[in-house]
Amino acid sequence: MKSALLVPAAGLGLRLGWDGPKALVDLGGAPMLAVTLSRFAAADLTPPAVVTVPPGQAAGFDRAVSALSPFPCAFVEGGAERQDSVLAGLEALPDFTDLVVIHDAARPLVSPEMVQAVMDAAREHGAATAALPVTDTILQADAEAFLADTPDRSLLWACQTPQAFRLDLILEAHRRARREGWRTTDDATLARRAGHPVKLVRGAQENLKVTTPFDLRLALRLRREEKA
Ligand code: CTP
Ligand code: MG
Repeated sequence: MKSALLVPAAGLGLRLGWDGPKALVDLGGAPMLAVTLSRFAAADLTPPAVVTVPPGQAAGFDRAVSALSPFPCAFVEGGAERQDSVLAGLEALPDFTDLVVIHDAARPLVSPEMVQAVMDAAREHGAATAALPVTDTILQADAEAFLADTPDRSLLWACQTPQAFRLDLILEAHRRARREGWRTTDDATLARRAGHPVKLVRGAQENLKVTTPFDLRLALRLRREEKA
């Protein structure tokens, strides 16, 4: 079974507020995207990895990252939202791909073991995602910020990446989403909405998504700990 890697990295990082694309922010001596790619060095993946980038930035990303990547990358322009970028990336994958692993550039501290576990689960079930049981009680608000509902915490998991899918399954789900106007911030939700079972694989707190300046501080510290 031929597996490929797709890394959405086309976001602007507005919540981080750094003066450049979030995927290229420094994470202890290397751009975040290069650290993310290095986590996949041991995975059984057929190159090139497809990396989505902001419009007009393919050459800049190539210069900043290719020499540090453990495998060749193809830089593809993404779209306005993550979902648009992922579909562009899926459509750029080589035809022989059976399984695709999708992992956000913004989660640079994923472990190789988690990558393997999600790929194994997707091979068995067709679709799988890393996710973490929530520890906070989650409140659902109404539009005026009054408490509307409190879902049963024991059933709630926070979504992470990696997510992995049979390529035919996730392409079909994304194309249907485009036709029917479904919008989501992850791909497993589209697979589920298209009728496919999705296996949840227990993620890790270390696999945080670098979204805010606080997340970046935390990721830098964790990275320093790893190197120590
Ligand atoms: N992403 C993408 N294309 C987009 C938007 C996001 O490929 N149009 C990618 C980001 O680069 C990131 C991942 O999807 O690796 C998760 O998105 P998020 O954490 O929201 O990053 P940004 O969209 O860059 O940040 P923000 O929402 O704060 O602007
Ligand atoms: Mg975003």
